[in-house]
Amino acid sequence: MRMLQWLVPLLVIGWVFSGCEKKEREHLAVKVMVPDSSEQVAITAFGDSVATMLMKTLKKAVLEAMEAGGPVNAIQVCNTKALPLTRGVAGRFERPVDIKRTSTRIRNPENQPDSLEKQVLVYFEKQLRETGTLPPYVAQVIVKGDTRYYRYYKPMKVAPLCLTCHGDPKNMGEPLRETLKRLYPRDQATGYQEGDFRGVIRVEWVAAVGKN
Ligand code: HEC
Repeated sequence: MRMLQWLVPLLVIGWVFSGCEKKEREHLAVKVMVPDSSEQVAITAFGDSVATMLMKTLKKAVLEAMEAGGPVNAIQVCNTKALPLTRGVAGRFERPVDIKRTSTRIRNPENQPDSLEKQVLVYFEKQLRETGTLPPYVAQVIVKGDTRYYRYYKPMKVAPLCLTCHGDPKNMGEPLRETLKRLYPRDQATGYQEGDFRGVIRVEWVAAVGKN
């Protein structure tokens, strides 16, 4: 059971979605539960394959853009392609799946966390601070009306590559700083150091309808 310790603090009943969740979800009470062991196997297997594919896809796009035109070009590629690439990865799976990257310090306002995501982000941050390591994932079962959803959260640490665009602005060249300022006037996602917790990939899909 110790293996499951990171699931326990997430038992929250009657959570209300807020923030930038889809309109029809607003103000609907939902129940959040810890997955049982068979659900946990299903959530981690599928969730991890989706999150891993997204990470690989985005990393490849960033590296290719850096090679082609340096970090300023790569920022522009992230700006215009990160969300379409994320949707493209979602479209490669046999079932509908919703993927999002989010953080407590966001760059793109479209990546703002909802209330459940915020709670998981704070949890990961606290774990890293207090234990020096990040749990490998968080899994949740969410019941809303007659629909049962699974959520999988994969944490991401700041690697040297990430510092190019998420590190101390003082270490960035002037063109890069200016581009970031122009595209993201309210950017919160700089000043990170290697090893910091940067955010999560959150994967969500419908597990069952009509038998909850
Ligand atoms: C070439 C510059 C660049 C590099 C390198 C880069 N990012 Fe980003 N990152 C961006 C931009 C621009 C955005 C905002 C656009 C988007 O992705 O939605 C962003 C957004 C994000 C987000 C979504 C949350 C938010 O703040 O909007 C996460 C999470 C993230 N980056 C993590 C990373 C990690 C982890 C790495 C290293 C593996 C990394 N980034 C490397 C430019 C970069």
